[in-house]
Amino acid sequence: MTEKHSYDVVFVGGGVIGLACAWRAAQRGARVAVLERAEPPAGATNVAAGMLAPVGELTFGEPELLELTLASSRLYPEFVAELEAATGESAGYARQGSLHVALDRDEAAQLRRVHDLQRSLGLEAEWLAPRQCRRLEPGLTPSFNGGVHAPGEASIDPRALVGALAAALSAAGGELRTGSEVVDGIFDGERLAGVRTAAGEELHAATVVLANGAWPGQTAWLPEHARPPVRPVKGEVLELRGRDGAPPPAERILASERVYLVPREDGRLIVGATVEEQGFDTTVTAGGILELLREAYRLLPDVAEMEMVGSLAGLRPGTPDNLPLIGPGAIDGLVLATGHFRNGILLAPLTADAVSTLLAGETPSPAAALANPARLSFSTDSERKLNRASDPAIVAR
Ligand code: GLY
Repeated sequence: MTEKHSYDVVFVGGGVIGLACAWRAAQRGARVAVLERAEPPAGATNVAAGMLAPVGELTFGEPELLELTLASSRLYPEFVAELEAATGESAGYARQGSLHVALDRDEAAQLRRVHDLQRSLGLEAEWLAPRQCRRLEPGLTPSFNGGVHAPGEASIDPRALVGALAAALSAAGGELRTGSEVVDGIFDGERLAGVRTAAGEELHAATVVLANGAWPGQTAWLPEHARPPVRPVKGEVLELRGRDGAPPPAERILASERVYLVPREDGRLIVGATVEEQGFDTTVTAGGILELLREAYRLLPDVAEMEMVGSLAGLRPGTPDNLPLIGPGAIDGLVLATGHFRNGILLAPLTADAVSTLLAGETPSPAAALANPARLSFSTDSERKLNRASDPAIVAR
């Protein structure tokens, strides 16, 4: 016999976005369940370095993304404090600042332009000569052309964050169902009224929130026009560790044009990340590792002394305009919380506030409104197909 359950909201996807949204919704009194086909931490969350660095990661021509990332980074200290108080678990948050370094003259010219943009936007960032950079981070390579210090930037351990979110969700009365793969939608006319799982359960809900990262395009149980235009963008990362309990050879987030290094308090150093349009491939390649190690070594030679812990590849959920999709989907009963591309960890607090606000029938913040999926309704069919070309389910059609 089919097992039937009833909730106010079902979240498809138990990464940082699904869990954070569900926690906030449960805090507002909603009966929620999160369905995760694997065991958290999974998906992009498990691979993410956890940089909370909107200033250092600033790119030209993306003012809306900057508004979103700055707004979410301002929410982070309170979000983490509340989470840690609710669970007694550390989320590995550290406000250690970041230092972006130019390794040659070309990189220096590029970094100067980014720094001019940072200053014109009033962001907290200072240009430092090599000597000043090395005073902050003595392990830096002996020869480089200056850097930009952003003292307010932070990082978090995404795996610890997910653990704390799962505990907070449970404490707030929400359910996390792992090993639970959604295979079908339940429809009431044209309205999405719940989902069915591979195990044959029916979960009825007033709203289904799609928070399944890079996989919304493959959500065959939704009508085609309701599948969001998200494509997978592969990223490979490495995990190193100080030997015999030694701390990492850098205190701050370090970055050059081609690599970033994120130290953790437990002695690990995360080296990231490649950016590859390879569809749903998650193979760790020799070329990817070579590139990451070579660039990490150019920046911080002491990495050569560290223990190699492992390597991983994950899939970022990319969208046509690099902005996430947060808000009503294309059919009644569906809400989207996906498409966070390179900023899923950073945008979790803002996304969670926006989705829980929307679910409560209120209006999300002006920053969150920038991510409303309705903005993409102008996109033509061919643009949507182009963006989803790496989705085998789409190509086969
Ligand atoms: N946020 C860093 C990355 O996507 O690689």
